[in-house]
Amino acid sequence: MLQTLSNTAPPTIDISSNSITRAMVTRENRYTAGEPFVNNPRMSCRNVNVYYGDKLAINDVSIDIAENEVLAMIGPSGCGKSTFLRCLNRMNDTIDICRVTGDIRMDDMDIYDKNIDVVPLRAQVGMVFQKPNPFPKSIFANVAYGPTIHGLPASKTDLDAIVETSLIKAGLWDEVKDRLDQPGTGLSGGQQQRLCIARAIAVGPEVILMDEPCSALDPIATATIEELISELKQQYTIVIVTHNMQQAARVSQRTAYFHLGDLLEVGKTNKVFTRPVHQLTEDYITGRFG
Ligand SMILES: Nc1ncnc2c1ncn2[C@@H]1O[C@H](COP(=O)(O)OP(=O)(O)OP(=O)(O)O)[C@@H](O)[C@H]1O
Ligand SMILES: [Mg+2]
Repeated sequence: MLQTLSNTAPPTIDISSNSITRAMVTRENRYTAGEPFVNNPRMSCRNVNVYYGDKLAINDVSIDIAENEVLAMIGPSGCGKSTFLRCLNRMNDTIDICRVTGDIRMDDMDIYDKNIDVVPLRAQVGMVFQKPNPFPKSIFANVAYGPTIHGLPASKTDLDAIVETSLIKAGLWDEVKDRLDQPGTGLSGGQQQRLCIARAIAVGPEVILMDEPCSALDPIATATIEELISELKQQYTIVIVTHNMQQAARVSQRTAYFHLGDLLEVGKTNKVFTRPVHQLTEDYITGRFG
């Protein structure tokens, strides 16, 4: 995990004059700068470590995610963005060799408590993936599936209403209302991604996790999803992983920069992009690294 980061040694540490090793200096430099904590957290993560077997992929990360904010997670490939995102709804549980330590709470609920049922948790903290992955079923069934298995609708009329509302919120209703019985896989990539967002919304989430939701989409479909994210944040808390700096700047209120498993910097998006604390953050956002 350790990498020599000679350009970031703080001037106050003189490594030639004492026994501090370069590795220690390097690790010292990896503190989380900025404002990781907020007054109105929807989720709170403290001292989170994630291991794949013996390998540490997330190192002692502490951060809050505020209510009704869009938090962007950025950083070079392999720095642990997806791994950390998956901690937030225990999707890492599905990976045998993956082990998560530390404390992650949604309001006061410890989501790693042994009594927590992950099925309702994953409805509360929904997920949208990089590649749109509709079920091989009709558009209607894609959205209706979740509410049905969670026993949400009391009647067919209720189910119809949930499907319609979810598709409206996902900005897809007008495009699909006349072909709800056709396969979800027959939609365009951008429409499929909005269908997946509708599917997540249909089970009444509070937080929506998005892992590079636009990376398979063209600029027009991307713009539609970005507008949608801005609307959805009125009602939901959103965490989005993106490699697109402009996208992070456009859609998020706070940005978190990860680097080789460390959360190096987090704060208001405007601040992180214009006045980053860490040299490594600056190198990444200006395209010198990553
Ligand atoms: N299932 C897995 N088994 C073993 N190691 C894994 C697994 N998934 C991720 N890793 C390792 O954990 C580290 C973080 O990976 P992760 O996928 O979280 O990075 P990322 O920041 O999302 O990268 P990218 O931007 O390429 O999607 C990497 O070193 C990766 O190889
Ligand atoms: Mg990833």
